[in-house]
Amino acid sequence: MSTKTWWKEGIVYQIYPRSFQDTSGNGVGDLKGILHRLDYIKSLGVDIIWLNPVYESPNDDNGYDISDYRSIMKEFGSMEDFDALLAGMKTRGLKLVMDLVVNHSSDEHPWFKASRSSRDNPYRDYYHWWPAEKGTPPKRWSYFDVDENAWKYDATTDAYYLHYFSVKQPDLKWENPKVRQEIYQMMEFWFKKGVDGFRMDVIPFISKDTSFPELPEKYQGDFVSYYAEGPKLHEYLQEMNKEVLSKYDVMTVGEAPGVTIENALDLVGEDRKELNMFFHFDLMSLDRKPGTVFEMNPDKWKLTQFKEIHSRWDRAFESDGWGSMFLSNHDFPRSVSRWGNDHPDFWHASATMLQTFLLTMRGTPYFYFGDEIGMTNVRFNQIEQYQDINTINRYEIAKNKGQDLEAFLENEKEASRDNARTPMQWDTSENSGFSKKTPWISLHPNYKTGINVASQEVDEHSVLHYFRKATALRKAHQGLIYGGYKLIDPKNEDIYAYTRSFEDKQYLILLSFSENLSTVNLSGLHLTNQKLLLANSREVADPLTEISSLHPYEARVYDISKK
Ligand code: NOJ
Repeated sequence: MSTKTWWKEGIVYQIYPRSFQDTSGNGVGDLKGILHRLDYIKSLGVDIIWLNPVYESPNDDNGYDISDYRSIMKEFGSMEDFDALLAGMKTRGLKLVMDLVVNHSSDEHPWFKASRSSRDNPYRDYYHWWPAEKGTPPKRWSYFDVDENAWKYDATTDAYYLHYFSVKQPDLKWENPKVRQEIYQMMEFWFKKGVDGFRMDVIPFISKDTSFPELPEKYQGDFVSYYAEGPKLHEYLQEMNKEVLSKYDVMTVGEAPGVTIENALDLVGEDRKELNMFFHFDLMSLDRKPGTVFEMNPDKWKLTQFKEIHSRWDRAFESDGWGSMFLSNHDFPRSVSRWGNDHPDFWHASATMLQTFLLTMRGTPYFYFGDEIGMTNVRFNQIEQYQDINTINRYEIAKNKGQDLEAFLENEKEASRDNARTPMQWDTSENSGFSKKTPWISLHPNYKTGINVASQEVDEHSVLHYFRKATALRKAHQGLIYGGYKLIDPKNEDIYAYTRSFEDKQYLILLSFSENLSTVNLSGLHLTNQKLLLANSREVADPLTEISSLHPYEARVYDISKK
């Protein structure tokens, strides 16, 4: 069995600070706002807060373009606010995980300003440059570039610089030991303040073959895998672990596009001494058109595929490493709209069913703010409503290519990251209690009709109250954290059923992903001592039999231990 630690037992709550709570009245969330809401967060039964970047940034990509790694973005407050927030968290027994964005910096970071100023500047080698006299550099794909080109020509020194993301996010050159030392020192700076860990942005991309060859044959059509398999990735992570991480009791979770199940343990195997966990992208690409990153697949995903992904990843970490379980974050649409069903008839059941799923699987559960009240996709109609560089620049690309812009906007209604970035819905007052001023991004109007904290606090059957019961259940049963997982009735396209077994305990979890009454085959399970621990339906459930039925999106958790 897996060794026990706090970051395996903890439940993570991710906050997108820009959208959580504004106290300064500028329409943008801030650190004081988070401090103000700490009692609420604590009441959810979560243990660890992951904050999206709060560092100084020109906000080309909402903080993922950092211009000073050691200071707080002015819109969010000051370092004093940060210290007060951290102290407030410690008092309440909450841990803090920060975002570490070191594949790239902002082009407004002093390092890059110096680097681009002349070819012989001491900071030149902090970034990747391709001198123009060598000709056009070999094609590299960029996530956010309007030309889909990761090389940007810079006239000052007649050279191209590399940017896997926007032109304002130049890639740092990890091959330069000075860069690595700067990063390790910066990490120490935050650890010394008492931060409990880092979520590492696109961490598998840090190592590059700096000869920049043409894309090798085996990666044709798949830049992401190429980016994730740089030659020195593991060497750098082991160095970072040895020089910094190993000195502190902290957790690390890598964002890991391009990392496959075959090389999973290279990153998180315990003896590797690299990272603790990572987010894989297998589920996040399930509803995307094959070969694309941002386009929805018109063929809907199947529950058997969803189950297969989770069963396979559970197996990968059965005896080594540890998984991270998530259904949503700031880069993807809202989980109830994506994996559940946000039609009013099914919204409550499917939101709570998905909560039950994350809280009964092995692997650390990560919730994105607002999922505890079942926030849904906003589905903007017009391009002007979008704030995200990803949607805005891809709209430009579509326009330049003469593509169908209506179709583009339809796609964004389901796929856009802005679906997850609308402000937290606190109450029914103006701007949902998020801000006194018009927010930086429009609110979802459904804050007025039940999807808000205040309304759900006074309704004992709300999604919010269910969330608290479900987190408490996980805490009360170590078997739900460490227990072995077994898929039941694998071919069932309506119901996801599995057991978790730990010492002499066995749990059975039944989750309907269907709009219809559906049945599950439980033959072979010992059902004599069934005890219902948690259910999201108010109707009294019939005792389980070999063939049992579930209401649409129903979730139930049983203790079926023999004694
Ligand atoms: C992944 C982050 O989660 C995303 O929000 C960001 O745009 C890119 N990395 C670039 O930093």
